[in-house]
Amino acid sequence: MNGTRVVVHPDRAAFEAGAARLIAERLIELLAERERVSLMLSGGTTPRAVYGVLAAPPLAASLPWDRVDFYFGDERAVPREDPESNFDMARRALFDPLGAAPGQVFRMEADDFDLEAAAGRYGALLPEPVDLVLLGIGADGHTASLFPGQPALDETARRVAVVRGPKPPVLRMTVTPPVLVEAGEIVVLATGTDKAEAVQRAVAGPWDPMICPAQLARRGTFVLDRAAAALLEGNRGQLP
Ligand code: 6PG
Repeated sequence: MNGTRVVVHPDRAAFEAGAARLIAERLIELLAERERVSLMLSGGTTPRAVYGVLAAPPLAASLPWDRVDFYFGDERAVPREDPESNFDMARRALFDPLGAAPGQVFRMEADDFDLEAAAGRYGALLPEPVDLVLLGIGADGHTASLFPGQPALDETARRVAVVRGPKPPVLRMTVTPPVLVEAGEIVVLATGTDKAEAVQRAVAGPWDPMICPAQLARRGTFVLDRAAAALLEGNRGQLP
């Protein structure tokens, strides 16, 4: 599987615990090597559930969260306190419970009146590379806000783009392929039968990120429950 690592958990609860533990362990290892670590967050209900485990005991006390800088892989063009905002979701699920300081949270300003300028600013402040990138995956194979067929998938210069997606809120900002290609590590989080086909294409399908953008994460670690792993050959992942 060309470098892809697959970890399969028996059910959703085991997935949430296992995914959070894997992320915490990687952060601890990275923090042993450097003073600060950059962690890029994903939106979505699956990542949100994992954030809740990270922000609760025992993992909340398992690492020096004050040495983690939080970034976003994408953001919807809504006010920061909008329920659809990835920032607001992460604030509630992670930043507030962990007591993260404002200086360690780098918000995508997708509520700015000039989105292109905001995208340019964010692309300039993103670390090169981001140490650890967390991604969800849509049933259509999208990841971050890189949706199938989007011109942003051909972007090679800009690191953040303004896009219109098929799923509301339509107007968004997203990191572009170069950010994923250069990332230190990628962890993809997926559960449920509705993701099985997209996971199979992302992990093992014929290479075409324009059709399945999640293939850009193929070199990463896919943390799945059995349902999302159902179409992988013999569930090739390791059962933890
Ligand atoms: C977003 C996310 C998006 C999400 C997937 C999976 O802003 O919506 O970045 O890529 O991770 O759509 O979402 P679910 O886990 O809710 O299915």
